[in-house]
Amino acid sequence: MTSADLIPMKPMTKVILFLFLVFASLDFCKSTPEQDDPTPTPWPPQFHSILVMNNSGILEVIDLWYDWPNGRNFNIIQHQLGNVLHDLEWNNGTSFFYTLDSSKTCSSVQLEVGILRPNWLDGATYLGQRKVDGFLCNVWEKADFITYFEDVATKRPVHWIFYTGREAHVMTFEVGAALEDSKWQAPVYCFDTAAETSTDSTTHMLLDGVLKGSAVL
Ligand SMILES: *[C@@H]1O[C@H](CO)[C@@H](O)[C@H](O)[C@H]1NC(C)=O
Ligand SMILES: *[C@@H]1O[C@H](CO)[C@@H](O)[C@H](O)[C@H]1NC(C)=O
Repeated sequence: MTSADLIPMKPMTKVILFLFLVFASLDFCKSTPEQDDPTPTPWPPQFHSILVMNNSGILEVIDLWYDWPNGRNFNIIQHQLGNVLHDLEWNNGTSFFYTLDSSKTCSSVQLEVGILRPNWLDGATYLGQRKVDGFLCNVWEKADFITYFEDVATKRPVHWIFYTGREAHVMTFEVGAALEDSKWQAPVYCFDTAAETSTDSTTHMLLDGVLKGSAVL
């Protein structure tokens, strides 16, 4: 079609064609940067991280052991000047929460899904770049439940914020580090028949996976 083709058209036809061109170009402008947007780096199959957590001013240090090949994930949570809570998650949906002190407390939860997959950030919405904790980061939002910050230079995670406002600052990120098998054994009092078990299948519990313990506790 040339511009000469447009001249004999009725005014209404021209308006429609004009609107069509406007919307087509808007669509074009929108789709181009999306294709160029950076994507989050998948998690390595195994890693160890030390996280400093801030939950509205309540601080914790978490030892995070992510172990996808063995279908398990561990959050060992040190509360400031308080106890240490073990949040051990299996890919069959069972999670144990226990202390190893004299209180011998343990509870477990049965979820419908297991731990997060290494590519759990796929499909996240890119929000641009921001400086966080002194690092220039690419930032994504996933399913309204987490905002995730990854170092532009090294592609390591730096920070994430849950929808609850709970924040994680990544202090170490040891790719390939694995916790020895014996440490993954929940204590015997988790298997007492009287032990408390609950089932929780709320959306965010399911979405959170490895991060769920950090999100709800
Ligand atoms: C923790 O977060 C609160 C806001 O929720 C902030 O006021 C406080 O400074 C933070 N504390 C640390 C140690 O970062
Ligand atoms: C899931 O796996 C763990 C570790 O092997 C086990 O203790 C737990 O009973 C299993 N849960 C189910 C529902 O099979």
